[in-house]
Amino acid sequence: MSETSILILGGYGNTGRLLADYLLQETEVRLVIAGRSIEKARGMAAHLNLKFPGQRVTGLSIDASDQAGLRAAFSQVDMVVVAASTSAFVRQVATAALDARVDYLDVQYSTHKMAVLQAMAPRIEAAGCCFITDGGFHPGLPAALIRYIAPYFDRLESARVGSVIKLDWSGLNLGQATLVEFISEFMDFQMLAFCDGRWQQTGLVSMLKPVTMDFGREFGRQYTVPMFLEEMRAIPKLVPGLRETGFYVGGFNWFTDWIVSPLLMLVKVVPDRSLRPLARLFRWSLNTFSRPPYGTMLKVEAHGQEDGQAKAINLTLYHPDGYVFTAVPVVATLLQLLDGSARKPGLHLQAHIVEPRRLMRDLARLGIEISGIKENTNDHATL
Ligand SMILES: NC(=O)c1ccc[n+]([C@@H]2O[C@H](COP(=O)([O-])OP(=O)(O)OC[C@H]3O[C@@H](n4cnc5c(N)ncnc54)[C@H](OP(=O)(O)O)[C@@H]3O)[C@@H](O)[C@H]2O)c1
Repeated sequence: MSETSILILGGYGNTGRLLADYLLQETEVRLVIAGRSIEKARGMAAHLNLKFPGQRVTGLSIDASDQAGLRAAFSQVDMVVVAASTSAFVRQVATAALDARVDYLDVQYSTHKMAVLQAMAPRIEAAGCCFITDGGFHPGLPAALIRYIAPYFDRLESARVGSVIKLDWSGLNLGQATLVEFISEFMDFQMLAFCDGRWQQTGLVSMLKPVTMDFGREFGRQYTVPMFLEEMRAIPKLVPGLRETGFYVGGFNWFTDWIVSPLLMLVKVVPDRSLRPLARLFRWSLNTFSRPPYGTMLKVEAHGQEDGQAKAINLTLYHPDGYVFTAVPVVATLLQLLDGSARKPGLHLQAHIVEPRRLMRDLARLGIEISGIKENTNDHATL
């Protein structure tokens, strides 16, 4: 592990800089911090070299649209972690990684990215590379949590995963590319949930009649809508007997949820140039209307049978900082990859390649608050 070097594309962004920090803390890897600005890349490398011993970090300027530049940079490392809002350039990035025969992990939520990578899957496997997509918090954790919780039941019948993401958006310096990528995906996400044993499209009805979940803490009952994540597709097959499942995403604030989001969904087919003003409107609504309490949470509500008795478990994961909650699951997955235990050639989803019990131990060790409540016994247990 000591010789391994990893290039983080987007390494000085909100997600990338935390990934770098935790990786230097948890492993002996060497890092290349990359993005389009050489000043920012070198500045972040200098900051990290002051914080951690061993002069393990360098900075590099790369544009994700430049396939030759990517290939040259990737050929100097063992792995690339994509923490940049560059899903539009997934073909260039993934092809360069394949050409350089390096492993790959990304944290983007993008249907375009998924389609491109799935089409490349046979080549990825033939090259012996391990590609992990949909890393992070969501995507990244919901299906892993169901894989984790299923063995606690003889028969798991229902497992809904919900999220709360309350951020102080005005304090985040999000890049324009990140916002444009975010809203273009947001305008397009599928409201699919697995109900009564089959995947069902809920559409705008689920915005008018949202599912509520009680997240406890300072959040209480929140409304959520189904959001299809690729990692959920295989869950009903992996957990026979499951009748209800899905990922349910919580709202941002009343203005973004009830005014801006429906507008984005109504104007789905807009030319690319209209995305920038929409991204500005979205950023303004997040900055203006988001209020404390802030925090990020995932909750699994699971019901089933054990020893012939009805059983229910609520599992919650919490961190006050949504970006820490994004970076930590990626680092926990990389730990399993770097020691070889999870590494296998081909295209994989983070939520499915990771061993869930070790993942949960590492999440807890790295600061994610995890609690489970066995409701049938009223036993409040920390897992
Ligand atoms: N799975 C999850 O749970 C989760 C959670 C949060 C975020 N994300 C995803 O993580 C990604 C990053 O989000 P963020 O909030 O960290 O974004 P951010 O703070 O805006 O940082 C984006 C980074 O990407 C770099 N970048 C953008 N365009 C680039 C290009 N063409 N070539 C090279 N580098 C480029 C930026 O640097 P320059 O602009 O200077 O090049 C910056 O370093 C997004 O795709 C987001 O959707 C996933």
